[in-house]
Amino acid sequence: MHKLELDTPQLLIDWDVMQRNITTMQKCADNAGVKLRPHTKTHKTPRISHLQQKAGAKGITVAKLGEAEVMNAGGADDILIAFPLQGAPKMERLLHLAERANVRVSLDSRKVAQDISDAAQARGKKVGVYVEVDVGLGRVGAAHHEGARDLVREIVELPGIDFLGVMTHAGHTYKAKTLEEIKQLAHQEGEWMVETADMIRADGIQVREVSVGSTPTARFAAQVNGVTEIRPGTYVFYDTTQVLKFACDWADCAQTVLATVVVKHPDRLILDCGSKTLSSDTAPNGLYGTVKGFPHLEIWRLSEEHANVRINGDGPLPNIGDKVEIIPAHACVVMNLHDSFLATRNDETIGEFEIQARGKIR
Ligand SMILES: Cc1ncc(COP(=O)(O)O)c(C=O)c1O
Repeated sequence: MHKLELDTPQLLIDWDVMQRNITTMQKCADNAGVKLRPHTKTHKTPRISHLQQKAGAKGITVAKLGEAEVMNAGGADDILIAFPLQGAPKMERLLHLAERANVRVSLDSRKVAQDISDAAQARGKKVGVYVEVDVGLGRVGAAHHEGARDLVREIVELPGIDFLGVMTHAGHTYKAKTLEEIKQLAHQEGEWMVETADMIRADGIQVREVSVGSTPTARFAAQVNGVTEIRPGTYVFYDTTQVLKFACDWADCAQTVLATVVVKHPDRLILDCGSKTLSSDTAPNGLYGTVKGFPHLEIWRLSEEHANVRINGDGPLPNIGDKVEIIPAHACVVMNLHDSFLATRNDETIGEFEIQARGKIR
């Protein structure tokens, strides 16, 4: 069916554009001699993960145990859970998953390391661990250099863990204003991580992985000598934010939401998709997405089911009943709002896929 015949709102993924994004990022990793461990929180869909692995990715990254379980059921057997796990139920599930997959976990405290070690030791196992390092985001992470080195000293002898290396997520680069700034932060990300790894090695401790990456920085941080792995996620679809952060062009955006114009006034249009469809995340321009082919239309306010579109400038306007495609502000959160998506090729639908790991918040 042609996409313009679909009922709306409808989440669409342009399959060829997505495949091109997968191939391009893989080439970038291969050329730099690093592994690509994509973050699957963006697509939350085992079928897309298979395509990433087929292209050459080595393992996956997830944020949640629930995502890990879905991806494992879908065939993933090398999984980094990039989240400090806490509580007995999670330890139980982690060790259960570790029976079925090569699982590694990131953490930034002695407490989390101890809990994982205790749970693993009780089952006669070891769980692979990355120490997370903060290079500027100010979220999870021991301080780079001495802070991370000191934490590794504290945990490396714990019997139930296998210290594999260090990782970081340079999410602060989303605040950068220019490509030059992003490049500079990406180099700093890579260099601080390699220097931190070297400090740990100076203690005689093996550091096998130096894992970095966000979508804006991955292609630059991958170039830093000593980095072993990159973990971008959003690159698989890209979005309005990624275009405005210089990570891609509009033509690389594989994810769109098809919507219908339901109200037309001289100053505004209303579309049939609100925060329940597009999420409440905005792009760096303060807008909730980009209306493809209509640069003078600005989605500036959302209600739950309505997108309020400001007409800012001259140009053709769609009429009531016309359909438009929106490139969302943030692809990952949009996937979490939908049960399934339709894959398209040359504007025709080619299949429907369930977003199996949506809603897996535990
Ligand atoms: C730990 C970690 N690694 C990798 C990524 C992927 O980054 P991006 O969304 O920029 O592709 C994220 C994103 O939130 C993350 O939290």
